[in-house]
Amino acid sequence: MEALEPSIGIIGGSGLYELEGIEQIEDRIIKTPFGDPSDTLIGGRLMGRKVWFLPRHGRGHRLLPTEINHRANIWALRSLNVRWLICVTAVGSLKAEYEPRDVLLPDQFFDRTSRRTEHTFFGGGIVGHVAFADPVSQGLREILRDSAVGKVSRVHDRGTYVNMDGPAFSTRAESLANRQLGFDVIGMTNLAEAKLAREAEIALATLAMITDYDCWKEEEEPVTAETVMGHLHANVSAAKQILAAAIPKIPTVPDWPEHCALDGAIMTPKALWPEQ
Ligand code: ADE
Repeated sequence: MEALEPSIGIIGGSGLYELEGIEQIEDRIIKTPFGDPSDTLIGGRLMGRKVWFLPRHGRGHRLLPTEINHRANIWALRSLNVRWLICVTAVGSLKAEYEPRDVLLPDQFFDRTSRRTEHTFFGGGIVGHVAFADPVSQGLREILRDSAVGKVSRVHDRGTYVNMDGPAFSTRAESLANRQLGFDVIGMTNLAEAKLAREAEIALATLAMITDYDCWKEEEEPVTAETVMGHLHANVSAAKQILAAAIPKIPTVPDWPEHCALDGAIMTPKALWPEQ
């Protein structure tokens, strides 16, 4: 069989199922050892590059953050030889300078999730520990940042994304504590994607679309799902423009540090790995 070319994945949310100018669209239903991904993957070509889309919550927004099978999603993308992954995701702002409809490019994560055993491909007889000090691909983040300038009102480079489980939004005490700890934005999904992408040797960066001030800001109404969706939908066309500008700038050869993240990461000798 012919080898698949190294391609670009996009995990997105509502409204983000296609890019302007995309050609040769195809669908793939992928089965993985971890179960089913959130939905059918949609492939196509943009400026000569192969891209694959996956809606994180499934079409029709059917999956809670804790119901998303992140392992199946990342496995499915990697099985199509996705080596660069752009995540588009809604986040709440934890600082006054990040306003709804701004974009932030996180470079750090803080883990407040409770299902961490589902956020690794290791286990079952193979022990591995990937380096995760710098969880976001600097190369891809810089491409996204440069592509975002001028397409949204403000672009914020770098920041810490704190990942809670949800589905309820934070209490005010939690929101204030997250601010005191210096976190920049809050969301419910992206950390698992970043961990698994690293283990799959995929370079990942995130376009965090700010939709609300969580519930710390006294003069604002506490966040609701309606507010989040309203700002997200209003920004879909900006997100598409950013992606269309970014994709042609992504290299074709996967030779970044993230592409060899497993070098030296596995402790179990190969002779002892279980039969696949
Ligand atoms: N996604 C969008 N806004 C959020 C918030 N305030 N908290 C958690 N996830 C979010």
